Amino acid sequence: MSDTTLLGTLLDRISTRQARVGVIGLGYVGLPLAVEFARQGFEVTGFDVDPAKAAQINAGGSYIPDVAEAEVAAVVRAGKLQATTDMGRLGAMDAIDICVPTPLRKTKDPDLSYVVKAVEAVTAAVKRGQLIILESTTYPGTTDEVVQPMLEAKGLEADVDFFLAFSPERVDPGNQRFTTKNIPKIVGGVGELSTRAACALYATTVDHVVPVSSTRVAEMVKLLENTFRAVNIGLVNEIALMCHKMDIDVWEVIDAAKTKPFGFMAFYPGPGLGGHCIPIDPFYLSWKAKQSGFEARFIELAGQVNGAMPEYVVQRISDALNSVKKPVNGSRIHLLGMAYKRDVSDMRESPALDVLELLLRRGAAMSYSDPYVAELTHDGRVMTSIDPASALAQQPDCTVICTDHTVFDYDALVDSGALVVDTRNALKDRKSPGIFRL
Ligand SMILES: NC(=O)c1ccc[n+]([C@@H]2O[C@H](COP(=O)([O-])OP(=O)(O)OC[C@H]3O[C@@H](n4cnc5c(N)ncnc54)[C@H](O)[C@@H]3O)[C@@H](O)[C@H]2O)c1
Repeated sequence: MSDTTLLGTLLDRISTRQARVGVIGLGYVGLPLAVEFARQGFEVTGFDVDPAKAAQINAGGSYIPDVAEAEVAAVVRAGKLQATTDMGRLGAMDAIDICVPTPLRKTKDPDLSYVVKAVEAVTAAVKRGQLIILESTTYPGTTDEVVQPMLEAKGLEADVDFFLAFSPERVDPGNQRFTTKNIPKIVGGVGELSTRAACALYATTVDHVVPVSSTRVAEMVKLLENTFRAVNIGLVNEIALMCHKMDIDVWEVIDAAKTKPFGFMAFYPGPGLGGHCIPIDPFYLSWKAKQSGFEARFIELAGQVNGAMPEYVVQRISDALNSVKKPVNGSRIHLLGMAYKRDVSDMRESPALDVLELLLRRGAAMSYSDPYVAELTHDGRVMTSIDPASALAQQPDCTVICTDHTVFDYDALVDSGALVVDTRNALKDRKSPGIFRL
C-alpha cells in the first residue's frame, strides 16, 4: 500500500469514527483529551503506568477536577473509554497521543525519561498506517531528533509508513471558558502527510486546528507562549518590588493600565510561579538554546526574579509581625491557599510550599487552610488543612493569603482585625491597618 493510500485509509477511519485512539498518560492533559475523543464517538483506550488511575477510570471515576465524574462514567458505560496499564495493547491503536510528564532535573535540564519510556512502548507496537502524536511540552527538536529515530528503529519510515506529529497542549486547569474543545490546536507533522493526519484527528474534537510547517515550529509555539507568560510575570513582579519602595499601589497601577485598549496586557504579581508549565517550560527552551550557543537572557532573569518572590513574601510577613513587635521565630502563622492557583487542587511547584519551607526554617509555627488540599507532606511531616473559620478563631499571629480561592470568607478575615499579608490582592478595596499587601 502506498503512503497516500495509508493516509486515505486512516482519514476514512477517522471520519467514520472507526479509528481506535490511544492516549498515553492520563493526567491533567491526557484524561480530558481521552474523554473528548470518546465523546466524539471514538473507541478510546487510555494507557497509564498507574494502575489506581486506570481502575478509577474503568469504574467511571475522575481524579481531575476539570473532568466531571458523570462525563467519564457516561463514556465508560457507552463502551467508548477504557483504561489500562497494558502497553501491549498499543499495537491495536490507529492513533496514539502521548501526554506524559516533562519535568526538569535538579540541574534544571530537561528530563525526557517519561517521553522516552512511552516512546519505547510505542516503538514495540508501531505498525504501518499508525498516527503518533507527541503532546508533552518539550524543546524544539524532540520529535524529529529523539522520537522519530526511536520509532524508525524497526525499519518503518515516518511520513511514509506511519505518521508522526507534535501538537502542544494548551489546557488551562480551572478555566471554565476555554477548554480542550474550544482552545485552538497547533499541529506540526514531520511531513505533509503527518500534518494532514494529525489535523484530521483533532478536527473531530477541537473547534479550530492550526497547522504549522514542522514539528519544531509546533514545539517552539508552546515554549514562546509559556516564556511570554514567565517573562511578563517576572516583569510585573519586579514592578511590584519597585512600587513598594516608592510607596505606590502596584495593583491600582495595573488596573488603571489595563484600561488601555491596545498594546498592554495585564499580568499580576504574586508569591512566585507555580504549576507544571510556567516555572518549567522556559528552561526547556533555554537549555536547547544553549546547545546552539545562544544564551536566553530574559528566561534566566525572569527565573531569578520569580524565584525570589517567596523570600520577598517572607520579608513582608516579617514586616507585618514587626509592626506588632513580634518575631517570625515562634509566631503562629497561618497560610490560606496552598495550591498553585485559585480554585484548583494542583500543588505542583506551588510557591506556597516555598513560603511554608522558609517560615519553618525561621522557627514559625505553621498551619494552613486549603479546601482543595486536605493534606500535604512537607519534609516527611504530614500537615492537615484546617477549616478557615476555626483557624481564624484560633487568632494566629499572622495570616498569609498565598492563593486566593473563591470560597474563602475575606470579609470575616478583615472584620476580625487579623494581621494579614495578602500576596494576591484578594482584599482589594478592603481597608484595615492590619493588611500588608505584596
Ligand atoms: N497540566 C497542565 O496544565 C498542562 C498544560 C499544557 C501542557 N502540559 C504538558 O502536558 C504533559 C503532561 O502533563 P500533565 O499535567 O497531564 O501531567 P500529569 O502528571 O497530570 O499526568 C501524566 C500522566 O502520565 C502517566 N505516565 C507517566 N509515565 C508514563 C508512561 N511511561 N506511560 C504511561 N503513562 C505514564 C502518569 O502516571 C500520569 O498519570 C507535560 O509535558 C506538561 O508539560 C500540561
